[in-house]
Amino acid sequence: MEQVPDVLGYHKTVVSKIAHDMSLNLKVNGATHSLPEIDPQTPLLWVLRDTLGLVGTKYGCGISQCGACTVLLDGKSTKSCIFPVASVGDSEVTTIEGLASPSGELNALQKAWVDLDVAQCGYCQSGQIMAAESLLRTNPNPEDEEIDSAMASNICRCGTYLRIRQAVKTAAKQNLSDDMGGE
Ligand code: FES
Ligand code: FES
Repeated sequence: MEQVPDVLGYHKTVVSKIAHDMSLNLKVNGATHSLPEIDPQTPLLWVLRDTLGLVGTKYGCGISQCGACTVLLDGKSTKSCIFPVASVGDSEVTTIEGLASPSGELNALQKAWVDLDVAQCGYCQSGQIMAAESLLRTNPNPEDEEIDSAMASNICRCGTYLRIRQAVKTAAKQNLSDDMGGE
């Protein structure tokens, strides 16, 4: 039997999409971006990657289970794969691209990650660094257990956890030294 295209269904989908799309302003890494006609339910991850070209934030599971998509929302670790873009509101989004200074100097965590050669395949690491950044903003000198607890929802299939913990402690020490005017 000949297949009849579901024209009515397609029409309904298009009408519904047009009816729900909206324009938004999104603050990311210190800049405000206008997003015309975007589905407000679009996960923040896809806006960052596909619309803004910030591909440092990764897609892993899509269901808030791996942490590859971690960004900061007003400084707090957030899984962008399940976070609707419209829910960002006036909050400031920070991605891995926004951690270095405007002159390109890496922050303490990024330096420690490089110095200690933390990454293996690297896929999870931007999410790991963002989770660590969130931790150090509220707990500048965390114990091992506090690091493990804060990073528990960021999975590394290559098993780099011990180097991650060491890098977080190294960065914390550097930040504290900087705050005291040290080297
Ligand atoms: S991709 Fe978001 S938690 Fe896995
Ligand atoms: S470095 Fe490969 S998944 Fe973490």
